[in-house]
Amino acid sequence: MSIDAAIQAIRERKPRRVVVMTGAGVSADSGIPTFRGPDGLWRNFRPEELATPEAFRRDPLLVWEWYEWRRGLIRDAQPNAAHEAIARLPDALVVTQNVDGLHTRAGSRDVVELHGNIFHVSCVREGNPRMHAEAFPDLPPRCECGALLRPGVVWFGEALPEDAMPRAYAALQRADLLLVIGTSGVVYPAAGLARAYDGLSIEVNPDTSLGSACTFLVPARAAEATPRIIDVILEVQS
Ligand code: OAD
Repeated sequence: MSIDAAIQAIRERKPRRVVVMTGAGVSADSGIPTFRGPDGLWRNFRPEELATPEAFRRDPLLVWEWYEWRRGLIRDAQPNAAHEAIARLPDALVVTQNVDGLHTRAGSRDVVELHGNIFHVSCVREGNPRMHAEAFPDLPPRCECGALLRPGVVWFGEALPEDAMPRAYAALQRADLLLVIGTSGVVYPAAGLARAYDGLSIEVNPDTSLGSACTFLVPARAAEATPRIIDVILEVQS
């Protein structure tokens, strides 16, 4: 399906309240590897083998080496044209599965980070979540109390931040357009959001093999298609 049909629908419906849901694909054009597919593998491990409480208990050094590698990539990366276009939407809620913080760096003000933030850490004994964006001199890093620090992200089997899904669902109830950008849509509960929405929705993903829960599927890279879609939204809103 071409982008033209999606753009035509925006011109007809003139959506005012927009929710944008993103996954790793929106940051692929910033050079950050996605999770699934060949690029997602690190030293032959799958993310599902590393992003779990069990993996951390078994081998905190291995898990931290993976996170420090990703933190370094993200630190050096810049928001791309898709993040920047999304940030131009006034009053849109951005619901992201990404932990890279690039939507906020691009200027989006209302961002729900469903899976936390990779530059946050907390103590496994004391909790006490805090920001720590710099590289750690020694891995695995430890809290002043001596216990291990862990990345401030949601691992498989863990609960999402308490207010994340309620905020996303509340915004979807009022929305008249949902944009879904760069997610394989296989990780729940995030994947349930797009499936629960029955208004006008547009997905951007170069891989069409999984099909789409959205009204329109635009087979293109995020940095290429998102600015074009958002230009039209802003045009009909003005
Ligand atoms: P995935 O790696 O599962 O999927 C990325 C999607 O982005 C795929 O469908 C790709 O086709 C698409 N894609 C690749 N390049 C793109 C581009 N340039 N523009 C647009 N789309 C592109 O990532 P997520 O769906 O975000 O969770 O994964 C969901 C969750 O699984 C992650 O948040 C993480 C992971 O394990 C946790 O760590 C809990």
